Amino acid sequence: MGARAASGPLGAARPGHVSHTRGEAVIAGRDDTLAHTLAHVEQYAQEDDPLTSARETGRRAESSPISAAGGAALRFLAAAIGARSVVEVGTGCGTSGIWLLRGMRPDSVLTSVDIEPEYQELARAAYRRAGFAANRVRLIHGRGLDVLPRLTDCAYDLVFVDAEPAAYPTYLDEALRLLRVGGIVVFNNALEGAERADGPLSVPDPGTAGAREVGRLVRADSALIPLLLPIGEGLLAAIRDHSADS
Ligand SMILES: C[S@@+](CC[C@H](N)C(=O)[O-])C[C@H]1O[C@@H](n2cnc3c(N)ncnc32)[C@H](O)[C@@H]1O
Repeated sequence: MGARAASGPLGAARPGHVSHTRGEAVIAGRDDTLAHTLAHVEQYAQEDDPLTSARETGRRAESSPISAAGGAALRFLAAAIGARSVVEVGTGCGTSGIWLLRGMRPDSVLTSVDIEPEYQELARAAYRRAGFAANRVRLIHGRGLDVLPRLTDCAYDLVFVDAEPAAYPTYLDEALRLLRVGGIVVFNNALEGAERADGPLSVPDPGTAGAREVGRLVRADSALIPLLLPIGEGLLAAIRDHSADS
């Protein structure tokens, strides 16, 4: 009950057609019932003016903002662990950062890395519009895999990776070094890694291969508690388990 062929932001004028966000690409290929259910999940996560504005800026700049449900999941996870210190790779125009900041503690800091300084300036304006003081966000310009090794070991509560899926396995190593015990790593675009009935000669592109491999690595690591969420583009989350250090 509740999921329907809707007419909201993700809504469809006709059954089976879902539109507008990055989640759409994933949702559109599924059967009608599942597509409507996932559209309902997206619509449930409401965005206010600052988020709508950040998303629209991202859409115009083609920075692929996270879906509303994906953002809501980030906020939920950050709030659940009382996050004070979060690292994000892939600032974009600030949509995911606003969601994260809204889940983090009031005295917390978001460190966000991107190779595009223009995007980061748009993100900075989006954070300001959402009411966050400038000292709540540390924006670092650079490639994630160049920046993360310079950050302090075991000093972060949550690491969110939303860039360079081909390198997700390497980002996992970096994230596990950065996370405190009980911290959470989250990868976006995890459904890219879904096994499909590819032909015998098909070779997955590097992004798909990276997403697939990080899923395998996370599930195989007994020091992690994994969760794959089929919302938006798919979120793969894992808690750095306490038992691994006892
Ligand atoms: C999917 S978008 C991020 C969207 C953002 N998280 C949001 O919700 O608005 C990916 C971002 O990663 C950046 N990017 C791509 N490769 C990168 C890399 N190797 N290191 C850091 N950022 C990268 C792009 O410039 C782009 O802004």
